[in-house]
Amino acid sequence: MKQPNIYLDYSATTPVDTAVFDAMQPYFSDIYGNASSVHAYGRRAKAALERSREIIAAELGVYPGELLYTSGGTESNNTALIGTALALRRSDKSHIITSKAEHQAVLEPCELLESIGFTVTYLDVNRYGAVEADVLVDAFRPETGLVSLMHANNELGTLNDILTFGNLCHEHGILFHTDIVQSFAKLPINLSELPVDLASISAHKIYGPKGIGALYIRKGIEVDRFQHGGGQERGRRGGTENVALSVGFAKAVERMQEERNKETERLRMLREQLLHNLQEKLNGIHINTDLTESVSHILNISFDAAKISVDGEALLMGLDTAGLSVSNGSACTSGSLEPSHVQLAIGHDAPTAKSAIRFSLGRYTAEEEIRKAGDIVAEVVSKIGRPAETV
Ligand SMILES: Cc1ncc(COP(=O)(O)O)c(C=O)c1O
Repeated sequence: MKQPNIYLDYSATTPVDTAVFDAMQPYFSDIYGNASSVHAYGRRAKAALERSREIIAAELGVYPGELLYTSGGTESNNTALIGTALALRRSDKSHIITSKAEHQAVLEPCELLESIGFTVTYLDVNRYGAVEADVLVDAFRPETGLVSLMHANNELGTLNDILTFGNLCHEHGILFHTDIVQSFAKLPINLSELPVDLASISAHKIYGPKGIGALYIRKGIEVDRFQHGGGQERGRRGGTENVALSVGFAKAVERMQEERNKETERLRMLREQLLHNLQEKLNGIHINTDLTESVSHILNISFDAAKISVDGEALLMGLDTAGLSVSNGSACTSGSLEPSHVQLAIGHDAPTAKSAIRFSLGRYTAEEEIRKAGDIVAEVVSKIGRPAETV
């Protein structure tokens, strides 16, 4: 199908791989049993559900029983934060640490927990969005029970040092959760070798279907359930399992494994070309991604408001109209564009923050599109940008 625009928003979501689509199809029609039924239909569905769990678990180097299927990254993060916090209450641990640059699916559960008596520390991040280890250590308290810090930042692509963070947490007897939604299957991540207790993943960021994800819960970690109902997922999450989506999730993981090495390199080269192109054509660019410590498919830039004034709303609309679909992380609240909390966290003023552009590349991004994307941004900025002094 002819697409409307150049799509450089793969961090928002990805198209479903055709092999994934084909693998799922029989589970919508022929193999429709309820995985909890004891008869032959149920057993067939259950076998597929568990085979998928094994494939996803193997990618992470964990036991299948340590993976809880969820409806996506949001539910995984909610379960990790709220479920773990509720269990920690029994041991008088009432303090949680996260960062100012986390996804809303971590920040909002933290706000909820604050409203029911937990204390949450929101750590500052450096100019690329990463947490510094000493900042984390300074925040530890005797009553700290859980730290939640993401691996790859979804807006910036910058990676946090989860190995160091996990070790520091464990030295202090604190549980460590990490949201690896943006790095999962793109980078090889072996959780059996990492000091991680809980990790969130999602299928639709890796050419799998929307509506399924998983939470890794290391064996022995207590997480209270808050979706009550049947005894599915070993009593940890009530609700009929979505077998078709689990099969798609596993197939997406396998396809990522096949392509990972060459795709990571290809995207890194395309990202370099894009940046080179932008820098040649535009002045006053901030590079917000830590290019040495990041996933290879994300590039985030913004325009320094002290040098050039670029109106965020006009920029987004202008790029879309000119044929480029990207994102900037801002939230649209009651008709006006609110600067992204991540851009503010890395130290930008509101106008610079609103001018951010996140380019996220993926499997179907072609070199020609990268060249065109640079041209489109330059053209739109030359139309709407004004020298800072004139505003
Ligand atoms: C870092 C991160 N965490 C969580 C989520 C939420 O995942 P889902 O869309 O599967 O609910 C996203 C999606 O944008 C994300 O990028």
